[in-house]
Parts: sequence; C-alpha cells; structure tokens
Amino acid sequence: MPRLDALLALNLACSKTKARDVIAAGRVRASDGAALADPRLEVPPASLPFAVAVDDEPLALVAVAHVLQNKPTGCVTALDDARHPTAYALLRDAPLFGELRAVGRLDLDTSGLLIWTTEGTWLQRLTHPKRAVPRTYHAALTRPFQPPPAAGLTLEDGHRPTITALAPIPAGDAHPWLRAPDEAGAFATITVVGGAYHEVRRIFAALDSHVLALCRVAFGRLALPPELPPGGWRAIDPGDV
Ligand code: URA
Repeated sequence: MPRLDALLALNLACSKTKARDVIAAGRVRASDGAALADPRLEVPPASLPFAVAVDDEPLALVAVAHVLQNKPTGCVTALDDARHPTAYALLRDAPLFGELRAVGRLDLDTSGLLIWTTEGTWLQRLTHPKRAVPRTYHAALTRPFQPPPAAGLTLEDGHRPTITALAPIPAGDAHPWLRAPDEAGAFATITVVGGAYHEVRRIFAALDSHVLALCRVAFGRLALPPELPPGGWRAIDPGDV
C-alpha cells in the first residue's frame, strides 16, 4: 500500500526526504482540515485519488496517471530535444508529469492523439505487436492514392504494413484538427496495426500519392476529442483505450 510520504514525493516531483519535511512542517492537511502528520500513513488504493491540501492548495494524490494529448505539429515525441520543442513540455501541469512516458511516437510533422502513461506495463502492452492495437489517421494528400495490390503492400525496406482500413474521404469528413494546406487534392482515412518508421507516409508514397498533413484520430477505442485543442491534454482511464 503506498505511504503518504511516497505519494506526496511522486505528486510533488520531489524526494521522499523533502516530502517528509513538508509533512513534518504541518503543511499537509486532509480534506476535513485535519493535519496529516504521519509520513508512514498507508493510503489504500481504493482511497485514490486521495484528496489533501498542501499549503492550503487542494491536491489529488494519485499513484498512476494516463493522459491523452492532442500533439501539435512542430514538436517531437520526446522528453528532451536539443533542436525542437517537445510534446512532453506541454504536459507540465499534468498529474505525475515527471513520470509520464509516451506510448509510441508521432513524427515531428504529425499531429493528433498521443497517449502518455506512468505505467510501464501498460505502455508495453499497448505497443506490443501481439496486442495489435489499431491506430487510425486522417491524411491530406497531394492527389488520390492508388488501391494497394491484392497481395498486400511491401514498402521499399521490405516492411509489409498491416492495413485494416483504407478509404478516400470527403474533405468535410476529415477530423477538425487535420490542418490541410490549400493544395491538398485528396483526403483519406487509414487504420494500421503495429507501427514502423514513417509508416503511413511511406504507405501513401507507395500508393503513388504524398502526405501533406497527417493527424492521428484514434488509438484503439480512444478517439481524438474534437474539442481538445492542439497542445491540450486530459486524464484518461486505461479502460478507455
Ligand atoms: N505514420 C507516419 O508516417 N507518421 C506518424 O507520425 C505516425 C504514423
């Protein structure tokens, strides 16, 4: 069972020693206003999120966090990067920010649904090829794509993508966060399982088209909320995916 000092350290992104100092100074209170003075207090999982106040600021203590982000274009899926802004930096106010890790990655120029989690096992499950979690993208293309060969598509490096859905769509059916340039000549939806470097861009290139803008609109059962602006995030439940 997590202890108050460990939970506080996790949620304040500080050391356990620092968390114990905060508790000892009487700065942590329960929701009824009573001081929480015992750093060894065990918090049952059923009590999470555990509502406390630190210096009178309400704080919901959690042990794990899962976040859906609408990744903007122009930032990399990384914790740290010397050349580009990171999608991670946009999560600074998210719960357990310091522990969040991305579930897979989106290219610098791809926008849309990106999941972050503090739970390594969940991350591995979602990205494991055996789980085959489908990912759906909307693409703005230079021109209509050619149908894939009946025997399946093989990319230039020998990779054979698993495409479970592929169709042209009218411009008006594209997700509102697909930012298509004026020169887009066609739009498409594509669902793939697994994942490989630049996979969707390379698929459309192999089908005699070219991706001008790409937005991930769904990951498993989770859809990119139209009301969530680029850079925005929201907490999710693992059961949502
Ligand atoms: N396929 C791509 O080509 N780019 C992405 O960011 C994701 C899938």
